[in-house]
Amino acid sequence: MKILASLTLAAGLMAASFANAAVDADAAQALLKKSDCFKCHAIDKKKDGPAFKETSKKYKGKADAEDKLTKHITLEPTIEIEGKKEKHKAIKSTDAAEIKNVVQWIMSL
Ligand code: HEC
Repeated sequence: MKILASLTLAAGLMAASFANAAVDADAAQALLKKSDCFKCHAIDKKKDGPAFKETSKKYKGKADAEDKLTKHITLEPTIEIEGKKEKHKAIKSTDAAEIKNVVQWIMSL
């Protein structure tokens, strides 16, 4: 019974993390604003960049989602906007917890 109890507990913890109870949406949006991300992105409509909801959908259920998104918003990968290659903007933060919060907020949409 002890094993069953800890399994139940583990499942509960996993469910809690999937629900992203710890995400600070206000902090995430404030940092995105400060970093000019909303110039090209919106939560649910396409601008020059994809809607964050589309990105969330694209990566939902993928184990490497957080890793990929973190790299995308910190390593300035080359992207193409209307045929023109440019560097993707990096988030204005070097705080791993702040960046993780942004990535988890996007994935919660
Ligand atoms: C000049 C316009 C522009 C700005 C500013 C911009 N982005 Fe983007 N972003 C794009 C475009 C275009 C894409 C699509 C790139 C692709 O799919 O190759 C993209 C893609 C993304 C993706 C999805 C990556 C993927 O793998 O699907 C995320 C997440 C993202 N941007 C976050 C941000 C954040 C966070 C900021 C602010 C630091 C930001 N963007 C600023 C244009 C922009």
